[in-house]
Amino acid sequence: MGFNNWNSTHCRDEFNEQMIRGIADKMVSLGLRDAGYRYVNIDDCWADWQRDKNGRLQANPKRFPSGIKALADYIHSRGLKFGLYSSAGTSTCEPLEENRGFPGGLGHEKEDAASFAAWGVDYLKYDNCNNQKIPALQRYTAMAKALRATGRPIFFSVCEWGENKPWLWAGKPPVGAQSWRTTGDISDSYASMLKVFKQNVVLDRYASPGHWNDPDMLEVGNGGMTDVEYRSHFSLWAIMASPLLIGTDLRKIKPEALDILLNKEVIAVDQDPLGVQGRQVRDADGIHVIVKPLKDGSRAVVVFNEADSAQDVDVAPAEIGLKPGRYDMRDLWSHSDHAGDGSIAVKLQPHASAMYRIRAA
Ligand code: GLA
Repeated sequence: MGFNNWNSTHCRDEFNEQMIRGIADKMVSLGLRDAGYRYVNIDDCWADWQRDKNGRLQANPKRFPSGIKALADYIHSRGLKFGLYSSAGTSTCEPLEENRGFPGGLGHEKEDAASFAAWGVDYLKYDNCNNQKIPALQRYTAMAKALRATGRPIFFSVCEWGENKPWLWAGKPPVGAQSWRTTGDISDSYASMLKVFKQNVVLDRYASPGHWNDPDMLEVGNGGMTDVEYRSHFSLWAIMASPLLIGTDLRKIKPEALDILLNKEVIAVDQDPLGVQGRQVRDADGIHVIVKPLKDGSRAVVVFNEADSAQDVDVAPAEIGLKPGRYDMRDLWSHSDHAGDGSIAVKLQPHASAMYRIRAA
């Protein structure tokens, strides 16, 4: 859980050290750090165009005049962790339009990993642009090994957009990544969120504790979806045990969006120590039902109405794996309880979700 600037800024000039320090401050003052959001990650365009004369990466002097180490120190001093970005290619993904790019890690894995460790990096997002068609396993293995060789624990986030089915290899040795993107980039629209969700939800069997499917970062708060849609986005990411990386500028966040990101009961489902990604048990007529077993023996359920019209939905206890009996049903958005036989009957507005935690009474 954490923050990454990409969805809110891309490479615009506002992405700079003043912004990122401000975000770190907000993570603390808004209560996000204490709710579990620990990483402050910076994305593409942090680097200078050229390596230094010793071949080392250096920060872009306009955006990060104090350097990356100073930024990492600041973030650490706020009780947060720091993440950085690079690409398993000759240069990173931006700028797409110019025939030049920021230096990538391909062939520089050892010296770059050494820089990351020396700067105090805790997380590396490693992208896939300009990869010279070298097999992904080879490229991601080289960086994984270089990171391990530094002796500093660095969360390794494989970002090859699901192109080479990373769920089959990225979590296992020799890569041993903590997460891997399963899809192309999300954007701030309901259609994009829905597409990414559908690609990721069917991959549940490949996630395991410490090795997660990553359906990309959150768009909650960016303005392109309604609050109902953002609640569905957050509920779906949580039931899929996804990384929760906030993608909105926290210095300007609206209370409605902050409430979504701070829903502790939904966060607890995402972060549950059993570490199981929810399984989709229904995908019919625009209704999705996803069930996630939790460590305390309860289970979380999301019922999501993909459709553009309101729908009445009934879910029988057996469909979500409940034996006949009495259950306490906690509604994780209204924060209210009711008792029942475990069945769900709910009217869902277009694009809305209901989310429950169900325990044997
Ligand atoms: C790729 C990644 C995005 C982002 C951009 C940066 O598209 O998938 O998440 O990091 O590169 O250029």
